[in-house]
Amino acid sequence: MSKYADLQARREKLMLGSGIDKIEAQHQKGKLTARERVAYFFDEGTFVELNAYVQHRCTDLGMEGTQMDGDGVITGYGLVEGRRVFAFAQDFTYRGGSLGEMHAMKISELQKKALKARCPIVGLLDSGGARIQEGIHSQAGYARIFFQNTMASGIIPQISVIMGPCAGGATYSPALTDYIFMVEGTSQMFLTGPDVVVTVTGEQVTAEELGGAVAHTSKSGVAHFRAPDEYACLDKVKGLLSYLPSSAGDALPTAVTMGVATADVERLNEIMPDHPNKAYDMYEVIRSIVDDGVILEPHEHWAKNIITCYARIDGRPVGIVANQPNVLAGCMNIDSSTKATRFVRTCDAFGIPLITFVDTSGFCRVWDRSMAGLSGMGPGCCMLTARRRCRRLRL
Ligand code: HXC
Repeated sequence: MSKYADLQARREKLMLGSGIDKIEAQHQKGKLTARERVAYFFDEGTFVELNAYVQHRCTDLGMEGTQMDGDGVITGYGLVEGRRVFAFAQDFTYRGGSLGEMHAMKISELQKKALKARCPIVGLLDSGGARIQEGIHSQAGYARIFFQNTMASGIIPQISVIMGPCAGGATYSPALTDYIFMVEGTSQMFLTGPDVVVTVTGEQVTAEELGGAVAHTSKSGVAHFRAPDEYACLDKVKGLLSYLPSSAGDALPTAVTMGVATADVERLNEIMPDHPNKAYDMYEVIRSIVDDGVILEPHEHWAKNIITCYARIDGRPVGIVANQPNVLAGCMNIDSSTKATRFVRTCDAFGIPLITFVDTSGFCRVWDRSMAGLSGMGPGCCMLTARRRCRRLRL
């Protein structure tokens, strides 16, 4: 076979990944393959793949002769809605997307390139974590990735999209990035999977309970966004990128909006109750002053007593932090403080102007998780009111 024909054959094999059967199995789980995700995410024909033919060099534990071009991860850059973005996508069909030495090397080299080019980096993760067969080399690989995560922090946007069962290091690195997206029903984040949990602890737990999208977007607050399927999830990532600059200090991306925001004073008068003890919905206030009433909300399902969201005013991005009088009387607690702090820090790093709506009764001194279901407490009500209400409900 000529050298060129050989290269062509390798290229075709590369496109097919681990083969039709494994791709079919991936589809049956309701998941796309790594290549399909990359193809959907980037503007057509713009993706440039890097280090496509890299293979692992492990010879332990039956790894000899099991090489596959790419070593289970696609890395490269391209355009997303016309703007340059770097991305990697892990291929679950090859050894569960697990991360070995060369797989890690590809990701950390990409992180360095994204930082040098001052462009956002998006990780499409679908990985069982450190590749067991490569032992300490896998761990060292994660160390390189975590180091690059911290070097890039606050300089370029780092976004993690969890698209399958992610364990160990495949969740620690995302936790160091700015935003985490999850797909309902098919993506999880945990230290290890349910099979290992039951073997080690004897506890039966489902993957969803252990670290599904609902658990992490509404209970732990580890993840910021969830979407019903992978396409909707990737669309949401594009939506978030449309509010962020390519790097700290760069101009914010502007957009053409249907209407220039002008606060509808009459509507605001209607929303605001006459009595300060009556609750109202802060979303209505926010939507009435931003372009087209459109917001994008990280942590929509977590710590609902505060709202953090992106919006546009006159086509330019702004960040909004607002107490929500409709939930827990808008009082502050640990989760809402953490939520607001993380959002303000991100806006600060990327030069996004902040608008703050303040209507809070102060800090909640009772154990507030038990009050999470409470709603309807009025604006400006003092903590006494909140406490009285708790006592009445025997919380
Ligand atoms: C090597 C792995 C792997 C891993 C999965 N596979 N995880 N191979 N290293 N970490 C392989 C499986 O053997 C299997 O291979 C294929 O991927 C698909 O895995 P399944 O178990 O069949 O899939 P599923 O039932 O969907 O479960 C996925 C899973 C589970 C939940 C991720 O595989 C799991 O719990 N894996 C172990 C997770 C783990 O403990 N990872 C180590 C984390 S420690 P075949 O050949 O059968 O198809 C870590 C340390 C970081 O990451 C420290 C940094 C400093």
